[in-house]
Amino acid sequence: MTAAAVEIEEAYTDLSDPIMFTNPFPRYAELRQFAPVSRVKSQQLRRHTGYMVTRYEDVMRVYSDKVFSSDELAQGGRGSAFMMKLLPRVFRLLSDSMVMKDDPDHQRLRGLVNQAFTPRMVTGLESDIHRLVEPLLDDLARKERVDLVADFTIPLPLAVIAEMLGVEDSDRDQFHFWTKSLLEGTDVGAGVLGIIRALPMGRKMIRLFEGLVKKREAQPDEHLITGLLEASEGTDRLSEPEILGMIFLLLLAGHETTASLLGSSIPALLANPEQLERLRAEPDLIDSAIEELLRYTAPVTHGVPRIPMEDVEIAGVTIPKGSRVLGMLISANRDESIFKDPETLDLGRQPNRHIGFGFGAHYCLGNQLARLEARIGLRSLLERFEHIELAVPQNELRFKPSESLRGYRSVPIRVR
Ligand code: HEM
Repeated sequence: MTAAAVEIEEAYTDLSDPIMFTNPFPRYAELRQFAPVSRVKSQQLRRHTGYMVTRYEDVMRVYSDKVFSSDELAQGGRGSAFMMKLLPRVFRLLSDSMVMKDDPDHQRLRGLVNQAFTPRMVTGLESDIHRLVEPLLDDLARKERVDLVADFTIPLPLAVIAEMLGVEDSDRDQFHFWTKSLLEGTDVGAGVLGIIRALPMGRKMIRLFEGLVKKREAQPDEHLITGLLEASEGTDRLSEPEILGMIFLLLLAGHETTASLLGSSIPALLANPEQLERLRAEPDLIDSAIEELLRYTAPVTHGVPRIPMEDVEIAGVTIPKGSRVLGMLISANRDESIFKDPETLDLGRQPNRHIGFGFGAHYCLGNQLARLEARIGLRSLLERFEHIELAVPQNELRFKPSESLRGYRSVPIRVR
């Protein structure tokens, strides 16, 4: 056996290995160099095994080549349509949502949703986000020591989604509590018990959302649900289950991701004080800073597993039809053939062609909203507090147990 073949044989990565949470970057650099397509063990995959693609150009191919399907059900995963019927409704709604669909179904759903989720709708949220940030900052200012995650980065995106959906003020506390419980239950680390505990929350949320949809049918307003109800292509419209699935998808895709970006950004800046100073001195650097923080902190490490519908060769390795493939965005965004000094946080990086929001047909629907929230959230934190420091040593920060979403469980800080 040649040396290269030995290396490829050994290139088997278990994504639940603690090092893949604390510092996976040396491992990805090694894989890009010696085994750009390798075997992986992950909770996200059927039978927990599959392939992982780590180089930038190859990852782009996984997300854009139509040979790779996102539709587990159509490709024979999760048993059968019969099994689907047995799944709790909230999981069924999610499995049926557009992120798990191929064309033409995906194109149809995305086209309709795009009519409601417009750049204008997102820009219209700007003043709401400013308004929602203020009381959170006031709370931070009142305490001696705070948890950036629990007290700021989780509540902010949740409040924004509630605003976007038009959840009534009287329902907001319930909405926050249910979402938190549902997210904890659907987290990979939660196990079966977590899922069972989350189910009643899922049912209550379905009822809340059904109520919102009914209300908007009777009384249209300027919010997203009305937009989803009104979206049409000829005679085609979104059905009620499709609207409910979309609401759950927005909640799950848009909440923890944005929270992780904000929650990882402050520790990254504190670990690179010259970059933090640069941003304080040049506030207009904020947009470029957000792009670099997306690249560097990798809030989403990979998208939905893809399934090749025929054998595909990448970097000399044949990936068999029907296997499961993870396109590692976290690794692509540190590819040294694309990014100069990829391990360096450079807030002014130009060009910055990161693919933190994915690539191709499923490119993140909420990218503009996430950017806007991150810009307002980060800027407001830095403007309000001249001094931010970690209240524990950096190496004591722990990541959440998720293999696909990278973010800290908590970030204790002191602010002045
Ligand atoms: C920093 C924050 C975010 C990151 C890093 C992120 C990342 C991603 C990525 C990588 C994908 C592609 C998944 C794939 O191809 O398998 C995606 C899709 C998606 N994202 Fe985001 N996202 C963020 C925030 C949001 C927000 C705020 C929303 C909406 C409220 C959102 C809604 C969606 C939806 C609906 C999809 C599916 C699009 C489709 O299937 O066509 N995301 N996101």
